[in-house]
Amino acid sequence: MTTSDHDFDVTVRGGRISTDSKTFEADIGIKDGVIVCIQRNLPPGRCDIDAAGRWVLPGGIDSHVHIEQRSGMGMMCADDFYSGTVAAAFGGTTTVIPFAAQHRGKKIPEVIADYAQLAREKAVIDYGFHLILSDPDEVALTQDLPKAIREGITSLKVYMTYEQLKLSDYQLLDVLALAGAEGAMVMIHAENHDMIRWIATRLLERGHTAPKFHAVAHDPLVEAEAGHRAIVMSRLIDVPVLLVHVAGAETVELIRSAQLLGSKVHAESCPQYLFLTEDNIDLPRVEGAKFCCSPPPRDVRSQEAVWAGFKDGTLRLYSSDHAPYRFDESGKLPNGEATTFKEMANGVPGIELRMPLLFSEGVMTGRLSIQEFVALTSTNHARMYGLSHCKGDIAVGMDADLALWNPEREVTVDTTMLHDNVGYTPYQGKRLRGWPEVVMSRGRVVVQDNTLQVERGSGQYIPRRSPEATLPVKTAAGATRLPALLGLKGKAWPTQ
Ligand code: URP
Ligand code: ZN
Ligand code: ZN
Repeated sequence: MTTSDHDFDVTVRGGRISTDSKTFEADIGIKDGVIVCIQRNLPPGRCDIDAAGRWVLPGGIDSHVHIEQRSGMGMMCADDFYSGTVAAAFGGTTTVIPFAAQHRGKKIPEVIADYAQLAREKAVIDYGFHLILSDPDEVALTQDLPKAIREGITSLKVYMTYEQLKLSDYQLLDVLALAGAEGAMVMIHAENHDMIRWIATRLLERGHTAPKFHAVAHDPLVEAEAGHRAIVMSRLIDVPVLLVHVAGAETVELIRSAQLLGSKVHAESCPQYLFLTEDNIDLPRVEGAKFCCSPPPRDVRSQEAVWAGFKDGTLRLYSSDHAPYRFDESGKLPNGEATTFKEMANGVPGIELRMPLLFSEGVMTGRLSIQEFVALTSTNHARMYGLSHCKGDIAVGMDADLALWNPEREVTVDTTMLHDNVGYTPYQGKRLRGWPEVVMSRGRVVVQDNTLQVERGSGQYIPRRSPEATLPVKTAAGATRLPALLGLKGKAWPTQ
């Protein structure tokens, strides 16, 4: 193409660009929200953005966030689609995939329509939805899910715990078989429900009610057992699974082993498993509730295992699992100071700090390359969730979703600087190096000069394609005979 004056709506000039595979210096020309040219010395656009001294990275994709959602235990998130997406944007994220959560008795098309309307009115960045499935009945499996998947909701989340959400192993197999046939990804919350219930009952009988006992009830073996069971089910019928919010060293190890055996198991972890431990939960009175999520943060050995998992590709997704609950009766403390660890809402906020934490503690310390950072925070999410035709990369034809990071900027985390509606952060006081100063979504400047530049509702719904599985299994071992015998069809799963 020619590059005469004003070919571009926006030119991003003089930055150091990194994708998941290369780093180079160039200008980026943007037209109609799309990257149309990448080369040095481009002419000015109508808007010219100076990126000298900045890293120009793909905008983050946070593929695990709870926004304007009621939890399995019935608590309402503190963030709606406005505050949640504003907070995401200020932290360098330009696409979120929150959940449309089916609670039992609710019809899937209505659930999706309700969330779609909420997001349409408020989101400031682009978004898709996963469907939380709690009731995989005949209508869901034969009609509603295939339709939802074909319309762009190409991933489902299922739970092995929480009384109101959990599926039996039989139901899990039904869902996996359906997902395999339709080309959807199944995200699994893997914790053994009865183990948690059994331990918690005995702890409460002994008067152990404080938040720190949440970590006791959610023992690492609870996660490892359920994770292993999910992997075995995936192997049994040769359908991929994605274990979300992996916390424990043993779970990382069993995922690595399963991948080496040829299992199609993918995995995600989150900031709370890199930067918090169970010691954070051990605070006076109910203060520790601010650090309680499921699975809980574990020990230093597990933190190291998660870092190692990110490094060697065992864990390919770094998401926030932003689950924003206020420190009051609406969320963490339904019974005030008398709230037991079984009653408080599970989850920690992290949508805004997800990327700055990893940039500072990963890239700026040399633990991760800038390309690994891009893969973990953006590109791998696009590939895993069917967005790689438009998101997660800096290349001609891609949406101009960019974040300009200043590696010199030092920030001390304080709740008051954050844009969510939670009122606390587990990372209070942490000193970070590096910050995304300009954030663009489809060529629109969303954040600049520490100010939001776009209107409520200006984000777009992005229907997703089938997950590409361009995150291949590590080796290709023979699948079981069962899919052929039972006539199960797999649609979109290359077996490279
Ligand atoms: O504790 C957590 N992670 N709460 C959010 C819900 C979920 O299971 O992801
Ligand atoms: Zn979960
Ligand atoms: Zn979650």
